[in-house]
Amino acid sequence: MPEKPFNIYVTRVIPESGLKILRQNISNVEVNTNEQLLSRDELLIKVKGRDGILPLLTEIINAEVMDAAGEQLKIIANYAVGFDNIDINAASERGIMVTNTPGVLTEATADHAWALVFAVTRRIVESDKFTRAGRYNAWGPMLFLGGDITGRTLGIVGAGRIGSAVAEKALCFKMRILYSDHLANPKFENELGAKKVTFEDLLKESDFISIHVPLLESTRHLFNDNAFKLMKKTAYLINTSRGPVVEEVALVRALKNDEIAGAGLDVFEDEPKINPELISLDNAVLTPHIASATIETRNKMATMSAQNLVDGLHGKRPANLLNPEAFDLIK
Ligand code: GLV
Ligand code: GLV
Repeated sequence: MPEKPFNIYVTRVIPESGLKILRQNISNVEVNTNEQLLSRDELLIKVKGRDGILPLLTEIINAEVMDAAGEQLKIIANYAVGFDNIDINAASERGIMVTNTPGVLTEATADHAWALVFAVTRRIVESDKFTRAGRYNAWGPMLFLGGDITGRTLGIVGAGRIGSAVAEKALCFKMRILYSDHLANPKFENELGAKKVTFEDLLKESDFISIHVPLLESTRHLFNDNAFKLMKKTAYLINTSRGPVVEEVALVRALKNDEIAGAGLDVFEDEPKINPELISLDNAVLTPHIASATIETRNKMATMSAQNLVDGLHGKRPANLLNPEAFDLIK
């Protein structure tokens, strides 16, 4: 039986494993069961009077939402590892805890980065369309030539959990690994033979660049015209982090002008809207922000975010608390 009359809101249906934890521990659990995202107005109305909110990365949870919820709001348990959708400072100022789902989606996301590497380099999507269209008439020496992967240089931008997992998988392909990060990662260097270089050198030397930084003011448009000009003409860009890390118009220009060979993108600058020019380009492979979309991973994200929320409401420090100062402030 629920112990306390807490009242929470879940902005979209998440896997049942998470909803079950919420329902077992919280008396009033409301879930938005619509297929569509909530409008901003609906969100502001729905959060009113809640003790906890479990949002997705699609909801911008800023001071306006926190104030619309009211002073009783104690915790925002994001269903994502990235938390650029939440204004952490505004939450801390109000004594609201914020949690995320680190670790559980690392391997799935790294696997997807690799799926994009293969898809774009070996032209899987293009050649699949060609084959289905009945256009495969004869084996040809020049048919769908792509790039090499094994033995090439992989540049990891952001050597955190996901960046490290992508690099670890590169060992099978005998790749040389470079990384850029503001901090050195000795484990990464010792175990994977990765070499820390400047962002500029990484751009110049890599055959594949995979982005694994969070979206911050300092990483917004990290990949712009200048970056693309420094990249090799034969290089590929892979983005499974956040769309705005790449300036999309500059990327389109680089892809159109063959300044780089191709791009594999799971995230977009203004998603779910996608630059129409990007859609028209054959040297880009596009997926709809599904890097963590495996059954097991999404179940783990659900139980983790739900447990964070339940713990926070019941006065226990959530395992994935991003702003400990808020926990200390809890009355
Ligand atoms: C997905 O993009 C996440 O941050 O979990
Ligand atoms: C994010 O989870 C990262 O550390 O790469």
